[in-house]
Amino acid sequence: MSGHSTYEPKTGFERWLDTRLPIIRFANDTIVTFPTPKNLNYWWTFGGVLAMMLGVQIVTGIILAMHYVPHVDYAFNSVERIMRDVNYGWLIRYTHANGASMFFLAVYIHMFRNLYYGSYKAPREVLWILGCVIYLLMVMTGFFGYVLPWGQMSFHGAVVITNLLGAFPVVGNAITTWLWGGFAVDDPTLNRFFSLHYLLPFVIAGVVGLHIWALHVPGNNNPTGVNVKSETDTVPFHPYYTVKDGFAMSLFLIMYAVFVFYMPNVLGDAINYVPANPLQTPQHIVPEWYLLPFYAILRALPNKLMGVLAMFGAIATLFVLPWLDTSKVRSMRYRPTARLYYFIFIFACLVLGLCGAHAPDDMVIPRVSGLQLLDSNINSYTWLSRIGALYYFAYFWVITPLLGLTETPLPVPESISSPVLSHPASAPAGATASPEKRG
Ligand code: HEM
Repeated sequence: MSGHSTYEPKTGFERWLDTRLPIIRFANDTIVTFPTPKNLNYWWTFGGVLAMMLGVQIVTGIILAMHYVPHVDYAFNSVERIMRDVNYGWLIRYTHANGASMFFLAVYIHMFRNLYYGSYKAPREVLWILGCVIYLLMVMTGFFGYVLPWGQMSFHGAVVITNLLGAFPVVGNAITTWLWGGFAVDDPTLNRFFSLHYLLPFVIAGVVGLHIWALHVPGNNNPTGVNVKSETDTVPFHPYYTVKDGFAMSLFLIMYAVFVFYMPNVLGDAINYVPANPLQTPQHIVPEWYLLPFYAILRALPNKLMGVLAMFGAIATLFVLPWLDTSKVRSMRYRPTARLYYFIFIFACLVLGLCGAHAPDDMVIPRVSGLQLLDSNINSYTWLSRIGALYYFAYFWVITPLLGLTETPLPVPESISSPVLSHPASAPAGATASPEKRG
């Protein structure tokens, strides 16, 4: 796939540059002539959407940083000033804050697409692992960013999450003190979080570069999961996928704009418009929606250290997935049993998200004997989280390895072209009608 280059410099300047820094050749081979499977569906447009969102976040973030003051006495007011006094500050801030949600929405679609079509399997393991690194960096960036407005949820969220590291025996307290830059979440903490929040998106951009590089060596997977066999299986990236990606990006931007202009605060928490007050803890401390499933896993376990390990384990599991999946067939199109478990997995993630959004005592099971199996404080959200977390881990560590060995997949097509060519709709006009009907 990464085969020889087809670029031919046209002007004298291009020839001169090509022998010194073949950057035009590189761009041409990556986004113009790159042979791309001809059967990619719309789920493959989210990589482009993600690249766009990374750009939007960096540009809006840099503008916000021109007006934001990373100091506990001024941070909250500086954000209010951005909203009220800075020209179009409200637009930049809402674009950035909702942009984080849109970025995560796109990354989850991208990741679930990869799970469905087996895009993490050989030879794309490194590509997948780099994706997991990007995701981890995104989670950290999102967390640091949420602390910056220094509202009630910013502050208490930071306290809860940083305190988790204190659960580690022996070194736990030393780590939290080091992270805080003192003995509590305070000005040094806000300063370093701002610094890291500014830095990490550029690290992400660097890893995205590696990600694309690792994509261009084996080339794209595709909905059939069957390897590209001949030149007729592919089309050049431009104009076929530049147009398709551009269309998807436009639709995505419209949806994004609806949030920014019509419901800019719907994904946030109203209490973050109250300045941080260390002496007044909000009743429910919840992270942003995109971290809720992990928050639910954290709280599902009765012991703090176990909860922290499970939460980190949930992300760590993704890194080893390519070696947990034993199936020879990539795409779930041909794995009906695996598909069923996959959809249950999506459902489990949604349930975990729901549980993460609620305080554990929001829905207490009436004290009917027999239902309360472990202790008297048990309630249904805790139980739902436990079932969800159990399924999350079982899906990767038990179901995926076993299914690959035991299931009988449907016949896999010879090439990516054959399912398309054998489809009645692909036959020449008139050829599909039966002779009797042709009259
Ligand atoms: C800033 C975030 C990211 C960007 C900009 C990005 C970009 C891209 C692009 C442009 C592609 C090719 C088009 C496509 O398949 O949609 C791609 C493919 C891929 N990405 Fe990402 N990605 C990101 C995050 C992730 C994450 C978090 C994962 C997994 C944990 C991941 C795993 C993959 C895999 C396995 C492929 C190959 C898909 C295939 O060929 O079927 N990516 N990515």
